[in-house]
Amino acid sequence: MAKRKEALREQSVDDLSKDEAVEELAHLAGEIDTHDEAYYRDDAPIVSDAAYDALRQRHKALEARFPDLVSASSPSQRVGAAPSEKFAKITHAKAMLSLDNAFDADDVHDFVARVRRFLALDTDEPIALVAEPKLDGLSASLRYEGGRLKHGATRGDGRVGEDVTRNLMTVPDIPQRLAGKRVPDVFEIRGEVFMSHADFSALNARQEAEDKPTFANPRNAAAGSLRQLDPSITEARPLRFYAHGWGDASAVPGTTQTDVLTALEGWGVPVNSQRQRVESVDALLAFYAELMGQRAQLPYDIDGVVYKVDRLDWQERLGFVSRSPRWAVAHKFPPEQAMTVLERIDIQVGRTGALTPVAKLVPITVGGVVVSNATLHNEDEIARKDVRPGDTVIIQRAGDVIPQVVSVVMDKRPPGTEPFQFPDRCPVCDSLAVRETDPLTGRADVVRRCTGGLICPAQAIERLRHFVSRNAFDIEGLGAKQVAAFWEEGRLRTPADIFRLERLDGQDTGPLADKEGWGTQSAANLFRAIEERRTIAFDRFLYGLGIRHIGQTTARLLAGHFETPDRLLAALGAEGQHKEEAQADLLAIDGIGQAVLNALDSFFAEPHNRDAVADLLSELTIEPIENDIEESAVTGKTVVFTGKLERLSRNEAKAQAETLGAKVAGSVSAKTDYLVAGADAGSKLTKAKDLGVTVLTEDAWLKLIGRA
Ligand code: IVH
Repeated sequence: MAKRKEALREQSVDDLSKDEAVEELAHLAGEIDTHDEAYYRDDAPIVSDAAYDALRQRHKALEARFPDLVSASSPSQRVGAAPSEKFAKITHAKAMLSLDNAFDADDVHDFVARVRRFLALDTDEPIALVAEPKLDGLSASLRYEGGRLKHGATRGDGRVGEDVTRNLMTVPDIPQRLAGKRVPDVFEIRGEVFMSHADFSALNARQEAEDKPTFANPRNAAAGSLRQLDPSITEARPLRFYAHGWGDASAVPGTTQTDVLTALEGWGVPVNSQRQRVESVDALLAFYAELMGQRAQLPYDIDGVVYKVDRLDWQERLGFVSRSPRWAVAHKFPPEQAMTVLERIDIQVGRTGALTPVAKLVPITVGGVVVSNATLHNEDEIARKDVRPGDTVIIQRAGDVIPQVVSVVMDKRPPGTEPFQFPDRCPVCDSLAVRETDPLTGRADVVRRCTGGLICPAQAIERLRHFVSRNAFDIEGLGAKQVAAFWEEGRLRTPADIFRLERLDGQDTGPLADKEGWGTQSAANLFRAIEERRTIAFDRFLYGLGIRHIGQTTARLLAGHFETPDRLLAALGAEGQHKEEAQADLLAIDGIGQAVLNALDSFFAEPHNRDAVADLLSELTIEPIENDIEESAVTGKTVVFTGKLERLSRNEAKAQAETLGAKVAGSVSAKTDYLVAGADAGSKLTKAKDLGVTVLTEDAWLKLIGRA
């Protein structure tokens, strides 16, 4: 028997009978499945690429000879391994960052001036820049190993994305193998997945004909199509791809952005040909104006132009700040506008009690998206624009930003309207809503806030929503809707309750599995997702608390400085002389100012906030923040730069020190390890000498960090 099978394996396709072909096809399909799973799902191929290709080829030849044996489940009818329940996660070998925006010519001048300053270039040194259209799609990272597409991922949160390999493999623009002999061993191509206008309209027409939901715009259609669990659905959607950069790479083909994009084209990867290398801001702006003129005729959506420093050694030196590179900027097109009728003004209550007026509009399409809500910011804005219910208004929408009411078309105002009366009570809990007076300026805050604090359900729900949001705890299956429902039922009151949901399930409320729309499986999934977040990075934890003025960047700075919640809490709880020291220490962190200090102080001054944090901490394990620090002689040291540096700009020096794990402070104290003093150093130098702080020249510093 075994002998006969072995013989079958060896036999040429042309010599097999139909019965034998049935047996052989089943065998080959099983083998291919096993290898697909090993390769795509487990990241652990069992056979060489050549052996795998041979299996595929034999399978294909057999199906070609016996077309009636092709089954729906045949490997030829799909790509990769069978769909999993949800997407696996892929940690990007290099983070996928976003771009800083420029909105006008001044911002573009500032960008180039910043680059010049950072690199300490002479005013007459030309800076070559590449201008590229900014495609409005979703970014993807394609990892090629040995020239073969190994996996592909969405951007996700920039560090971890979703494994959409099998879906990306169905996009015809994306090569399975890179062409050419000189392809690096490892090369991650980054680019944009998008849908053309024509394909988008045709897709929506099909969806409508089949009674399926339509997509609001091409971007949403592209995102929805890529994130399908069944790759055959993605395959049926007309997705396209343009590369615009790269991530992890064992070698980079060239020394400029231009070189690399040209090399990518040579490897068979599509790159937008509408790009230009220029050497002046005027030329950048001319390219921008030209593209804006063509915008309406282009077959796909673009929302601006990206400018990138061409030289890669300069890109390297410029590095990143927070989540964006210093060597690139996105020059956005102005927002698209439309006219519609404002039906009424609703008041929403945020997590800090802020009352935000929202315009409810007769739905209208703006830049391809249907808009029915727009923000009116605050009561002063409503008064300034004199917006009244019933008015015809101009609204605008730019990218992912909430649409705004720009102005009222006074000619169209119906008779008998009254100016809008902003409420002085919270529409949710009826507590007084007040505008606090700034003690420094004596001016009333523009924001009216509900004074209900803990008794206001709107604030409580918004705080919980913030806590579970994407950049905070990011708990899968616990979104805004679920939080509100759980709150209503009394399942959830504070963040710590989330981590007790499973333990207390069914005690005061019915078991979650019995709740409408839930079941044993979905409840178990939620409990598992919550468990996954019981261990959390310190910065996400801090950001999740939703303290005023503590955004992601500040949370990261604080987490990096204090390393553990205990240390942060100790600093904030310090008394007397220790308090002054602790405050000075906080203010010495570059990027932390008085507003943050006050916000932290008032948050932790409230006993119920301290209790809520302690309660939460008892449920969690806090991890130090992940960073890309290179260990060095200055890791963990505190450095202050002063005076004029000759070889680096102050910003480059600072960025370099931070990459090496040093803390850069703005003022000298007993905690300073090094003062790096350039020419004309003043009072900081005197103070450092008084305190016995080690003073280094710029050269000595560069030597210390091994960059001399
Ligand atoms: S370069 C380090 N170039 O815009 C970041 N991005 O707002 C490098 N995008 O996430 C991005 N067209 O998805 C770059 N020509 C282009 C682009 C482009 C579209 C997207 C990209 C990025 C987002 C940032």
